[in-house]
Amino acid sequence: MLAIETTELTKYYAKGRIKALDHFSLRVEPGKIFSLLGPNGAGKTTLIKLLLGIVYPTGGSAKILNQPISDHHTHEQIGYLAENHRFPEFLNARQVLYYYGKIAGVQTVTLKQRIPDLLKLVKLGDWAETKIRKFSKGMLQRLGIAQALINNPRLLFLDEPTDGIDPVGRREVRDLLLSLRDQGKTIFLNSHLLSEVERVSDEIAILKDGKLLRQGRVQDFISVKDQYQVKLSANEKHFREICQRLAIRLQEQNGAYLVSVNDRKHLNQLIDEMRSHQILIHAIIPRKISLEDYFIEVVEDREEGQ
Ligand SMILES: Nc1ncnc2c1ncn2[C@@H]1O[C@H](COP(=O)(O)OP(=O)(O)O)[C@@H](O)[C@H]1O
Ligand SMILES: [Mg+2]
Repeated sequence: MLAIETTELTKYYAKGRIKALDHFSLRVEPGKIFSLLGPNGAGKTTLIKLLLGIVYPTGGSAKILNQPISDHHTHEQIGYLAENHRFPEFLNARQVLYYYGKIAGVQTVTLKQRIPDLLKLVKLGDWAETKIRKFSKGMLQRLGIAQALINNPRLLFLDEPTDGIDPVGRREVRDLLLSLRDQGKTIFLNSHLLSEVERVSDEIAILKDGKLLRQGRVQDFISVKDQYQVKLSANEKHFREICQRLAIRLQEQNGAYLVSVNDRKHLNQLIDEMRSHQILIHAIIPRKISLEDYFIEVVEDREEGQ
């Protein structure tokens, strides 16, 4: 069963002048952290709103947890943290979870047990009775995630959960998302904060102007084929000679070397030669680019192609 499946899902605003989402087809596996990336205005929030039945599609169809999005019974198994959410400031943390739990249809006895557990989970256990007007942005985001978990959902939609939070707060959110994933929940994340996404996501999709540009595993996007960083114990003059002999392109990079080989066999030839010259290898690391660099490449490419 897929957690989310959209088929040619389309949403136009302003009588078709704004194509917020344009024939968008996506498949999200369960038990994963999936991130939708895209510049502001790409259509990320529109997708979540369509999936949750907050706005209606102009065309196409979608399923969540194997049910069509028109079937609102599925909502019992879904948690949602809206972008730029605001809870009433006169409530304390416990009350926020209680009221949102009631709205979500959770029974009072269940709430009484679950609220302390959730507050502990998001590291707000000592703040249950504090009015949220005193909370930092990071605390409010964590409370927001607890709110999204109040009905113990299988599928969680989080729209920009780390926006406006400092690095420590982000790390806390990140650790929380990983632990939720490890409990078997599916997490669908909207974000424009790429370094966050790179650390946490199993899979990503890149959206621009309502269109899907890429979908796949983060690892596959950020590794560069046939380039390796080689670390040696000292500046070995033999190493340069070997590379020259094997026609391996070599660049120096902050005290290490970057080699470009033809294929794996070529790389292993290099290793054999190095070992036979008693060169001590510290590490050979496949080269990676940051998701940010990749994203900019993909998004700008398309602009030039248009
Ligand atoms: N209710 C609306 N009416 C008209 N245009 C809208 C509405 N909601 C969103 N849009 C437009 O649709 C596009 C996608 O917006 P949105 O889904 O919020 O993008 P993102 O979340 O990726 O920043 C933008 O051009 C936005 O201005
Ligand atoms: Mg948005």
